[in-house]
Amino acid sequence: MTVKIGLLGLGTVGTGTAQILLDPTGRNPLLQDINISKVGVRSLDKPRQVQLAPGVITTDLETVVNDPEIAIVVELLGGIEPARSLILQAIAQKKHVVTANKAVIARHGDEIYSAANEAGVYVLLEAAVGGGIPIIKPLKQSLGANRISSIIGIVNGTTNYILTKMTSAGADFAEVLTEAQQLGYAEADPTADVDGLDAADKIAILASLGFGGRVKREDVYCEGIRQVSAADITYADQLGFVIKLLAIAKGAEGEISEQLQLRVHPTLVPKDHPLANINGVSNAVLVEGSPLGQVMFFGPGAGAGPTASAVVSDIMNIVAILKSSGLTTTLDPLLSCVHQHFCQI
Ligand code: HSE
Repeated sequence: MTVKIGLLGLGTVGTGTAQILLDPTGRNPLLQDINISKVGVRSLDKPRQVQLAPGVITTDLETVVNDPEIAIVVELLGGIEPARSLILQAIAQKKHVVTANKAVIARHGDEIYSAANEAGVYVLLEAAVGGGIPIIKPLKQSLGANRISSIIGIVNGTTNYILTKMTSAGADFAEVLTEAQQLGYAEADPTADVDGLDAADKIAILASLGFGGRVKREDVYCEGIRQVSAADITYADQLGFVIKLLAIAKGAEGEISEQLQLRVHPTLVPKDHPLANINGVSNAVLVEGSPLGQVMFFGPGAGAGPTASAVVSDIMNIVAILKSSGLTTTLDPLLSCVHQHFCQI
């Protein structure tokens, strides 16, 4: 049984996703049963680094979500609109959704997950936080027995790349930002990275999951790295610190969002702290809970390959369920545990 999917977006992550799906050799055999049926893009004029069958690419994004043969819509457009409307439209047609879109989930997660629960479909988002690091499912499933007391992360690869290069090579901010853009780490509008907005979206999502209630995105205090100067980095170094853009969600164990501290800002991190040596585009998320204590998730936090790895794993999770249930699903309580937390206010 082949499962047809529709991709929305063929930028950095969309291209990486298509490349994995079109090259299943040596990977999980489930990939051989996934067919990219339609790809919706904003423009047909851009050169593409992936070979798709003729007629697959369209600029009519709605034909992708409306195609009755497509079972899973993979939203990789980024931004709020039209991503939000297309996700809701897909859900209304009982299609499962995989997304890497932290901005739309951080702001509209409650609306999207309420609709998904009602329709009985999955909305999976492993790629939305931490690029290739498995963090969403582990936080909800593998750490589900714990009362979480803090989640502290380096969750933006672009700013970590910039700060690392400014620290290690005395590099110039603007020059390193251009490099990060060329490497496919930065957002389409890199102010979202540099001003901490992307990290704030991600910590809002992690806090919603970790603390068991929906956190409002606007409650996250947010300060980016524009004001960090070479002199700040030098003085921090002399005092035994490195400067990192940390995203922090902290509360007493198990408290709901009103009692949480939610903030993103450049932070002096002691050189012997586990987050101090997370360099380049890497991300890391340090979770503390009871009875576990501390656990740290670490890995490549941005870029085509790592992010596509998370997207395709989500697609495969859904395909595995569809295949075992003959294309009709009842939500698996473990896989859908992410849903509940976005629906609680
Ligand atoms: N612009 C993001 C980052 C991409 O630099 O981390 C991954 O979400």
